[in-house]
Amino acid sequence: MLPDVRSVVIEDGNLALRERPTPTPGPGDVLVEVVAAGVNAADLLQRRGLYPPPPGAPADVPGLELAGVVVARGDGVDPEWDGRRVCAVVGGGGQSTHAVVAAEHLIPVPAHVDWDEAGGFAEAFLTAHDALVAQARLAPGEHVVVSGAAGGVGSAAVQIAHRRGARVSAVTRTRDHHDELLSLGAERALTIDEVDDLPPVDAVLELVGPAHLERVVPRLAPGGRVVVIGIGSGAEARIDLRRVMAQRLTLTGSTLRARAREEKADVTSRATADLWEAWDAGAIRVPVQSRFALDEVAGAYEAFARPGKFGKVILRTGAAPR
Ligand SMILES: NC(=O)c1ccc[n+]([C@@H]2O[C@H](COP(=O)([O-])OP(=O)(O)OC[C@H]3O[C@@H](n4cnc5c(N)ncnc54)[C@H](OP(=O)(O)O)[C@@H]3O)[C@@H](O)[C@H]2O)c1
Repeated sequence: MLPDVRSVVIEDGNLALRERPTPTPGPGDVLVEVVAAGVNAADLLQRRGLYPPPPGAPADVPGLELAGVVVARGDGVDPEWDGRRVCAVVGGGGQSTHAVVAAEHLIPVPAHVDWDEAGGFAEAFLTAHDALVAQARLAPGEHVVVSGAAGGVGSAAVQIAHRRGARVSAVTRTRDHHDELLSLGAERALTIDEVDDLPPVDAVLELVGPAHLERVVPRLAPGGRVVVIGIGSGAEARIDLRRVMAQRLTLTGSTLRARAREEKADVTSRATADLWEAWDAGAIRVPVQSRFALDEVAGAYEAFARPGKFGKVILRTGAAPR
């Protein structure tokens, strides 16, 4: 008999801890005893009533990524997963002692990787990998600019782009984390005010929105691609469309959370195939800014919202690490 689940629950914009019956994994799903769960901007938006979870996800329990141990499985799931250390993206419900996860979204956690790092891997690395590889089609030798580079997705993107042989310019608001970004593989680290001095740019991973996008578009080389993933500085940008035509630019974007189960499985398997060995070898890593116990969740959300982070904010659920 499994214990009741303890979950972060959004109640009228507040964060509470509540006991819930343990969910039963359906066909193709597993139940994960969560040890660590990343905090994301989407959780803060959901708390404010601005980002409802997709169909099938828990309505009031936030959390888009988790790491833990597989403790039960539904019909059709390979018994090989039993007891494995895993991480995954979920449509919601990750900030809980237990969560149901689609088996095809599971990523094994390398033995040397600690729970905090594992809890912050999936959302950042899958988002960044999909944006840079599937959407921007980033090629070796190309120059890519990553804005918001010191955040969770940005620090993942710098490493992924570097591993693909691209030349990476990491753009931040301040100089605080430039040394760390250079050590993750950026060729150049600069502030948003220095973007006008960049050499021609082949691709942009836009994690900030207009505050950066408007400055970087004039730097795009012919055939340049922009992938918009984050819009923390606003949703509307002024772009000179003459430049889009003359340089044959491509502007695209995406969200990961609302995508179909099969699409998330594809994103997971492509990223895992490309990145897992490097993660296992310690060649890529998840910078962890801070960690909080589940009952400190309000403090974790405050820490996430505070400018100046490097990497991820993690919630520890209190489940016994194995
Ligand atoms: N589309 C998707 O599927 C998807 C998935 C995951 C995340 N996202 C989005 O992607 C963005 C990055 O996510 P994250 O997890 O990396 O967040 P994060 O860890 O909070 O990082 C955000 C980074 O952007 C910088 N930033 C924020 N607002 C800025 C502004 N107005 N001007 C300049 N820099 C600014 C921050 O710098 P400071 O520390 O100086 O504030 C921080 O380094 C968020 O907007 C998030 O909602 C989208």
